[in-house]
Order: sequence, then structure tokens, then C-alpha cells
Amino acid sequence: MKAAVVSAFDRPPQYEDFPDPVAAHDGELVVDVVAAALHPRVRSQANGSHYTSTGELPLVPGIDAVVRDPQGKLYYALLDDTALGTMAQRTIIEKDRSVALPTDADPVTVAAAINPVMSSWVALRHRITFRRASCVLILGATGSAGRMAIQVAKQFGAKEVIAAGRNPQRLSELTALGADRVLTLDQLDQAADVDVVIDYVWGEPTAKGMVDLITHRRDRGRELSWIQIGSMAGPNADIPSAVLRSSRTQLVGSGIGSVDGRDFRAEIPQIAKAVTKGAFDVRTQSIPLSDVATAWTQPLDGDQRIVFLP
Ligand SMILES: NC(=O)c1ccc[n+]([C@@H]2O[C@H](COP(=O)([O-])OP(=O)(O)OC[C@H]3O[C@@H](n4cnc5c(N)ncnc54)[C@H](OP(=O)(O)O)[C@@H]3O)[C@@H](O)[C@H]2O)c1
Repeated sequence: MKAAVVSAFDRPPQYEDFPDPVAAHDGELVVDVVAAALHPRVRSQANGSHYTSTGELPLVPGIDAVVRDPQGKLYYALLDDTALGTMAQRTIIEKDRSVALPTDADPVTVAAAINPVMSSWVALRHRITFRRASCVLILGATGSAGRMAIQVAKQFGAKEVIAAGRNPQRLSELTALGADRVLTLDQLDQAADVDVVIDYVWGEPTAKGMVDLITHRRDRGRELSWIQIGSMAGPNADIPSAVLRSSRTQLVGSGIGSVDGRDFRAEIPQIAKAVTKGAFDVRTQSIPLSDVATAWTQPLDGDQRIVFLP
């Protein structure tokens, strides 16, 4: 079969022959891949920088996909890190880690949306006690996950959603998605009284923004839940200890490891249903898998998620 194959971590995957998959036991199934999206997590898998990387090569990247079983039924499948991911004509799924999709589900939209929607959906449900009428600040709101987080927070009953990012022009488009206010990352003092921060940025902007926000808080005794989900601006943030001691801030992460895999999977049917019903504004760009090497290095096109079609 053909697949996107990574043979060196410093080169994009190439469209090449790869051995046909064979199921190893009853719980596994060989399926056709219908649509597989290029999430940031897939890029870090393919360049060896993700914390789960074992350094094993060659590998086929891809952590999730919409797949078709031999009976023609569509599933959303989530894979472990494996040498055979989803950017291939066929892959192996574990039956109990896959979710049957509604018959009217659009494979490209579902493949693009579940990972970014799940990031905030699971965080708000499993990492904090989210109360309706909370005020929510999203850092990195112009990305796919941030755009979804605006919509998730509103659907979960947030009273106010403040969208923050680095690009004023892209920020200005977010009120149409439900953001009540937009701020650049150096204006977080103007979001001082929020209850929840959903942070896809980390690095220097978060270190500075957390100080700005907490030092301008009118009531330091008011609970603040800061959820660390992504690290687009860097893996480390130099946070002064005093901001944590001087405020009622709880800092938690949300991702694989801090959320049980069963909890992630348990949310997928509801997320897939919401995506299929059109509850989220999802922007996609479909590209044949044979163009993977070129697509991998093309400039990122705003908020569109690339979806490969094998
Ligand atoms: N833990 C989980 O469960 C989970 C799940 C999904 C995603 N994630 C993580 O969440 C992060 C965002 O994912 P995504 O799908 O939204 O990615 P994306 O669509 O590529 O968006 C990236 C976002 O980060 C911003 N950004 C990039 N570099 C930045 C910098 N140096 N300073 C400030 N902002 C910067 C971008 O701003 P511009 O619009 O200005 O370019 C954009 O808003 C990634 O780290 C991803 O791995 C985690």
C-alpha cells in the first residue's frame, strides 16, 4: 500500500510504498483510511519531538482518522503512538478504541474537528469543576483548538468568553464564533477577573500574561483555574512563585496522561454527534495523501486544518 513515510526526523514524510498491515489479534481490525488530519501533535510525532517519541523509524504518522471497516461502516479511530499511524491507505485500529459515526457524518469535517474540539471539551469536563456562567479566557484563540474552545465554552454555558491571541486581524473574526471580547496577548490585564483560562500558548506570553492577569485581579481570593493544554510559544514558562502564592490559582494540565484514555474515548460519541449536527464552525483543506511532502511544508493557511485523503 501507499503511505506517508517518515524515514528521517528532519525531513517531511514522503509518499511511498509501505508493508500492508496485518491484524495481530481479535481486538484489532485492518481498515481503509478515509480522512486523516494534520494536527500539531502529528507534526511533533513526525519530527520526533513529542514526549512519547521512541525514535523508531521508519514510521507512518497520524494519531486519528475517519476509517471504513470491511462492511463499509465509518468509524472515528484514535490510535496509540505506533509505527503505523493513519496517514496511509490502510491502518490497524483497536475495535474498542473506535467509535461508529452517524451515517450522515462528513469524514473530512469529523477528522478535522475531533482533536481540536476534544482539547477544551475534555479539559472543562475532566480537569476542573466548570460552573455555568463562568468567565473564560482562551490563549491561542485563533488556532483550530482555540476557535473550537470559544464554541465549546459557550455551549457549556460560559457567561463571557474572551479570546486572546497574537494576530489582531484574525482575532477580529472571532466575535462571529461567539467571543464576547478579543485581546492581544499583551492585554491580559484586561481579563483579570476571569474564572478559567484555557491555555494553548505557554512559553513567554503565558509567563508574562499570568503575572499581568493575576496582579490586576480585583479579588485574589476568587478561584482561578488555569488549564495548560498546548505550548505553541514554547515548552517552558518562567512563572514567578509569588503569583501562585498570592492568588487562588490552580494550575492543571490536560492531555493524555492527565486525563484517562477511557475518559477521552467516552466523550467522542457526543463530540462526533455535535460535529455532525453542525454545532462547530470547522475550516478544512482536503489534500490527496500523494501530495503529503509538499503540503507538510506549505505555509499554514490561517485556521484551516489540513486533511489528507489517501
Ligand atoms: N492536550 C490536548 O488534549 C491537546 C489537543 C489538541 C491540541 N493540543 C495542543 O494545542 C495547541 C494548539 O493546537 P491547534 O490545533 O489550535 O493548533 P493550530 O491550529 O496550529 O493553532 C496554533 C495557535 O497557536 C498560536 N501560536 C503559534 N505560535 C505562537 C507563538 N509563538 N506565540 C503565540 N501564539 C502562537 C497561533 O496563532 P496565529 O493564529 O497568530 O498563528 C494559533 O492561534 C498545540 O500545542 C497542540 O498540540 C493539545
